[in-house]
Amino acid sequence: MCGIIGYKGGKKSSAILLEGIKNLEYRGYDSVGIATIYDGKIELKKDVGRVDEVNKKLNFLELNGFIGIGHTRWSTHGKPSKENAHPHISNDYSIAVVHNGIIENYNELRKELENEGFKFKSETDTEVIPLLIEKYNKKNDFEKAVIKALRRLEGSFAVIIINKDIDKLIAARRFSPLMLGVGKDEFFIASDSTAFIKHTNDIVFMEDDEMVIIDDGFKIVNITDNKIIDKKIEHNRINYYSAEKGNYRHFMLKEIHEQPRVVENTINYFIKNNSLLHNYKNFNRILIVACGTSYYAGLIGKFLIESIVRIPVEVDYSSEFRYKDPIINNTDLVIAISQSGETADTIAAAKEAKNKKAKLIAICNVFGSSLTRMADTTLYTQAGTEIGVASTKAFTSQLAVLYLFSLHLAKINKLMNEKEINKKIKLMKKLPLQMKKILSNNKIKEISEKNFLSNNSVFLGRGVNYPVALEGALKLKEISYIHAEGSPAAELKHGHIALIEKDMPVVVIAVKDKTYYKIKSNIEEIKSRGGKIISIVNEEDEEIENISDEVIEVPETDLLLYPFLTVIPMQLIAYYTGLCRNCDIDKPRNLAKSVTVE
Ligand code: AGP
Repeated sequence: MCGIIGYKGGKKSSAILLEGIKNLEYRGYDSVGIATIYDGKIELKKDVGRVDEVNKKLNFLELNGFIGIGHTRWSTHGKPSKENAHPHISNDYSIAVVHNGIIENYNELRKELENEGFKFKSETDTEVIPLLIEKYNKKNDFEKAVIKALRRLEGSFAVIIINKDIDKLIAARRFSPLMLGVGKDEFFIASDSTAFIKHTNDIVFMEDDEMVIIDDGFKIVNITDNKIIDKKIEHNRINYYSAEKGNYRHFMLKEIHEQPRVVENTINYFIKNNSLLHNYKNFNRILIVACGTSYYAGLIGKFLIESIVRIPVEVDYSSEFRYKDPIINNTDLVIAISQSGETADTIAAAKEAKNKKAKLIAICNVFGSSLTRMADTTLYTQAGTEIGVASTKAFTSQLAVLYLFSLHLAKINKLMNEKEINKKIKLMKKLPLQMKKILSNNKIKEISEKNFLSNNSVFLGRGVNYPVALEGALKLKEISYIHAEGSPAAELKHGHIALIEKDMPVVVIAVKDKTYYKIKSNIEEIKSRGGKIISIVNEEDEEIENISDEVIEVPETDLLLYPFLTVIPMQLIAYYTGLCRNCDIDKPRNLAKSVTVE
């Protein structure tokens, strides 16, 4: 999952490229580099480290020229190092390339090129690309040489290429995202529009096996048959404000605190644009595919839809779904949930569903992303740009979409009348204020600092709150690197309870629902084995408070709406624990915001 950007226009390209890789840094941050063309030469600066670090050392703005490429890396082949950083250069130093994806046949290509005398400086798969182009660029038809080289590649790529002797940008994609920003006498090409959204909202979305040649205009051809493709310029309707941290120390904390507004916006957006929910009738099963936090939103979606609409829902990890030759009928509705819309496994699962003739809905947060361009309908979460690698506001916005979609299905299937639906929406509209109340609870910071000192923890919940326990465990793992097990509370006795030792923190969601007294017994079982109990409870619940070491209160709400409230303490526990362990909150080790490789 790397971020790539190219620029050609009247501005100093290094300034645009530096700003662009900064905005793309959430996609990967092992190493960075920029190459420009100036005075008939390629100028290159790259090194291992974050954008700001490397820029301080190398000063990217010293690079001159009006055309260039930039890259921020999440390593797949070859450790983070200066040699493995992109851009990669041909042996004759005429061609520079940045790449996002995996070239699956790079070993064979490398051997072929080495046998022909080409020299490799890195361990990456990417380096075969500039060398292949150099090999084919003998008759000075550069576009042809690029196409010939691209046709040799197997696997996934989004590449941007420059040649010191040609005043053009060339870019192409297969299975990795790439979009063209069309400005006034200037062009941008990048992994996603956050790289250039401050300069233009006019976008051409590249599809697989398309190559764009940018000079004073742009031309798009198909890599396989070289035919010119006519593409329309789309206007990006979602206002991706350039995300700033404002008064917050980290994007994650800012985005946790944005959730009341995001949930409110999402509710209002879909009530105003009710037609977006469409008339989904005549299907008798729903399949949900997603990864990570979006998968946990899908598990909660299962509870919502099955409780409200009484239609069976299956939830699958995208990576499992795509390889199991799933049984899908054309009477199935598939919902793919993805914040980024670029998660490789979820895109592949969605493709599998489409191939088997299922109707496909995307629940997604990024306008025009690959997943939205495959779906029959996209229900856009109204979370705005989510920069923190840990998904927070996108998660609660996904829940809001799933809840409203469930109510809509209940309406068109005549399971609820207008009055009943309005009653549910009235309760839902109370959530933003209730979320704000939990966010203002300063005890959560102190509880986190005091209790998460061991390297293990357990998160428990039942019913619609059990996926929240899984999400809480993931958040703690992602942000503080503490091992955390999430589990349905009843499962404790089937193995997890062996983990419990003195002072081990156990977070239990114990709100007043039909399993309240069962959860209370689970708490007693843990307590008797020395575990430290942090309970998420309804206000003034003394019964649980008396058997817990710490309690975090949440207001009462409809049983199915609790996840909006119980997830907030989980997010804050992960944040404050990560903070006191000096972890890199917005860019946790080994992670990237969008997993665009398998
Ligand atoms: C969530 O905090 C993680 N960053 C990760 O699990 C994420 O939810 C997962 O990679 C799916 O991403 P998507 O929603 O963009 O498809």
